[in-house]
Amino acid sequence: MLRLRPFRPGDERAALAAQEALRAEGFPFLIEHRPGEPWAEYLERRAANRCGERVPPGFVPSTLLAACVDGRLVGRASIRHELNDWLAQYGGHIGYAVIPEMRRRGYATEILRQGLVIARSLGVDEVLVTCDVTNVASARVIESCGGEYESTTNGSGAPKRRYWFR
Ligand SMILES: CC(C)(COP(=O)(O)OP(=O)(O)OC[C@H]1O[C@@H](n2cnc3c(N)ncnc32)[C@H](O)[C@@H]1OP(=O)(O)O)[C@@H](O)C(=O)NCCC(=O)NCCS
Repeated sequence: MLRLRPFRPGDERAALAAQEALRAEGFPFLIEHRPGEPWAEYLERRAANRCGERVPPGFVPSTLLAACVDGRLVGRASIRHELNDWLAQYGGHIGYAVIPEMRRRGYATEILRQGLVIARSLGVDEVLVTCDVTNVASARVIESCGGEYESTTNGSGAPKRRYWFR
């Protein structure tokens, strides 16, 4: 049974290991984590951000959640409470990642399924989720959860497939 919950003080080691593992793929596991930042400070910043405080320029309030199975960290979800111009084209409302050795067990699909419920509980009625056109696994995740393909971005960044959950 996969559970989404806020990161806690005791997650430091596993979360930083996941950050390191995903770095090799060029993907941030921890949103806006400053290298060397004390874990307690990072958790404080995340808690503030979730309430719309101390949000860096260009970012929006968001909720970062640990995905755990049997008490073990397997992935994370980042749920943006609103869209800015960049998120509307590229980032979408929900981002997710699964630790490499935990992949292909259906965890990302379950993270997105639960993430959609949480996004709606935060007042987001129409949820945008995007993925790189080359990310076959993520497209499968989105389509399995019922995302409706709308368009592919063609701007300055890597092209993204954009899907809506209405
Ligand atoms: C994309 C990612 C989240 C998928 O996580 P996962 O837990 O392995 O996904 P799931 O087990 O839920 O698999 C979903 C589907 O993708 C398929 N899949 C998983 N990895 C795959 C791969 N490398 N190639 C092709 N298909 C793949 C699965 O077979 C499954 O298909 P099915 O529903 O037809 O059975 C994970 O690879 C990851 O964290 N990548 C780096 C970060 C990232 O890309 N995040 C998404 C940003 S949009």
